Amino acid sequence: MITYEYRLPHDINSFRRSVGWYELSPRQLNCALKSSVFAITALDGEKEVGSARVVGDGGYQFFISDVIVRPEYQGQGIGREMLSRLMDKALSVADEGETIMINLMAAKDKEPFYEKLGFMRRPNDERGCGMTRFLKK
Ligand SMILES: CC(C)(COP(=O)(O)OP(=O)(O)OC[C@H]1O[C@@H](n2cnc3c(N)ncnc32)[C@H](O)[C@@H]1OP(=O)(O)O)[C@@H](O)C(=O)NCCC(=O)NCCS
Repeated sequence: MITYEYRLPHDINSFRRSVGWYELSPRQLNCALKSSVFAITALDGEKEVGSARVVGDGGYQFFISDVIVRPEYQGQGIGREMLSRLMDKALSVADEGETIMINLMAAKDKEPFYEKLGFMRRPNDERGCGMTRFLKK
C-alpha cells in the first residue's frame, strides 16, 4: 500500500537522477529544505517512491515543482494523489471567499497529466503564456 507524508524525501537527487534531471547542489538542496511551503513524499513501506513540493508565499501564490514518481511506480495514480493532496493543503490555509493561484511548468508531453487535475494550458483566449528563463553562473 502506498502511504503519503507531508515532507521532502530524504534524497531529492536520487529522485531527480531516476528521471534524468540534473542534480541540485548542496546549497540548493538546503534552500529547498528550508523554503518549500509544503512537500509530499509517497512511500511504499519504507521506500520513497514519489515526491512533489510547493514553493510560494503561502497565501496567494503557490508553485508546484519537482513532481517525480520513480519510473517503476509510474502509472499507478501516485502522481495524481500527491498533487491532489498538495492542492487540498494549499486551499486549506485560505480563508472563506479567498482565491489562490496554483502555477506550474509542465515538462514536455506531461500536459495531459496536469489537465486531468484541472490545470489549463496557456496561452489561451484569456491568458498569456507562462515564461521561464534559466540562468547559469
Ligand atoms: C508525470 C508523472 C509525475 C505522473 O505521475 P504518475 O504517478 O505516473 O501519474 P498517475 O498514474 O497519477 O496518472 C494520473 C492520470 O494522468 C495520466 N497521465 C500520466 N502521465 C501522462 C502523460 N505523460 N500523458 C498523458 N496522460 C498521462 C494517467 O494515464 C492517469 O490518467 P487516468 O486518471 O485517466 O487514469 C510521472 O510520470 C513522472 O514522474 N514523470 C517523470 C518526471 C516528470 O516529468 N515530472 C513532471 C514534471 S512537470
